[in-house]
Amino acid sequence: MIQPAITGAGLFTPTQVITNDELVAAFNAYADLWNAEHADEIAAGTVEAKGHSSSEFIVQASGIEQRYVLDKTGVLDPEVMHPWLRERSDDELGQMAEMAVTACRMALDQAGRQASEVDAVICAASNHERAYPAVAIEIQQALGCGGFGFDMNVACSSATFGIQAAADMIRSGSIRRALVVNPEICSAHLEWRDRDCHFIFGDVCTAVLLEPEEEAKGPHFRVLSTRCATQFSNNIRNNNGFLRRTRKGHMEDRRDMQFMQNGRKVFKEVLPLVVSHIEGHMDEAGQDPTALRRLWLHQANKTMNDYIGRKVLGRVPDPEEQPNILQDYANTSSAGSIIAFAKHSDDLQPGDRGLICSFGAGYSVGSVLVERA
Ligand code: COA
Repeated sequence: MIQPAITGAGLFTPTQVITNDELVAAFNAYADLWNAEHADEIAAGTVEAKGHSSSEFIVQASGIEQRYVLDKTGVLDPEVMHPWLRERSDDELGQMAEMAVTACRMALDQAGRQASEVDAVICAASNHERAYPAVAIEIQQALGCGGFGFDMNVACSSATFGIQAAADMIRSGSIRRALVVNPEICSAHLEWRDRDCHFIFGDVCTAVLLEPEEEAKGPHFRVLSTRCATQFSNNIRNNNGFLRRTRKGHMEDRRDMQFMQNGRKVFKEVLPLVVSHIEGHMDEAGQDPTALRRLWLHQANKTMNDYIGRKVLGRVPDPEEQPNILQDYANTSSAGSIIAFAKHSDDLQPGDRGLICSFGAGYSVGSVLVERA
């Protein structure tokens, strides 16, 4: 059987940063404006005044200290509160494809490969900027890859599900090489005017190159096994789909057309799901979880990750055993665990094993057991 390996990883990070303090100042200015506009209804008790957000709450509840975004000017303007992303013409490279090309080139360079040697591009992300043609096919063309490309969406688990799909295709021999790329423009599906979640997301793009281990040119990670699971839940939901225009009131500013979550329920329900998923995967793979040298976990909440790390490893993980990047990047949906992997894997020694694990809307959980070669 062909042994698949991750031979390169790439990370595109936007240049603009929003700190918690900047974000909170903008949100509070927006809330003050809104409260002034609705002063009569608030006084009459028919609507509730919007409360202020706070940096202390954000750090304590999530571990997030800042986020990268494609555009901060719109997000920080209390009269706008969303990114200004210029709509591109059909002849221009799309916004997602542009980020993806940068991240993919980095992954290819690390692996010492040319784009023309790639047979498949999987663009795995929680939102895609159009219905078709697939963003993956645009990336395939922009890079000069062969074979085929397709988009997939498993929300925050898109990257690990994409890696499983690519690894399985390499194992079966239907392709030799695949790029799995995760352009996440979360700033465009976050409701920046909602105090409960305005701090959660950031923008980024990650990519990994997978190929048969026997063809790897440098240091790499064998993909020993993967496991994916889903279980339906409405606790993380975004109703913005193609039927939107057929609904009455589609022009209205509808809250459910952006990311919505019941954060507390997600917390309670997803944690046991992830822990039992990892235990089951490790059991199946004959891997003692306490012997894992690294966990690259989905980056949504520091408390969640600390809990999962402790349960899986059976000890309080050292910071390098379970690296967090969400203090810098916030939640970047499917890209989070891959950012952690791209930034914190070079120091592992041959034979060291680690687990990439993502989880989120669906619910969905995906885990990838890797070994440093
Ligand atoms: N600033 C100040 N206070 C805030 C606030 C803000 N930005 N947002 C909420 N609060 C208040 C709430 O109103 C609530 O006040 P109350 O106790 O008077 O009702 C209090 O802080 C606690 O709010 P709560 O929503 O229960 O906080 P939390 O500790 O659950 O943290 C999340 C919120 C979203 C960070 C957390 O639930 C989480 O990370 N959940 C999992 C999310 C996840 O993994 N999602 C997957 C997405 S891909």
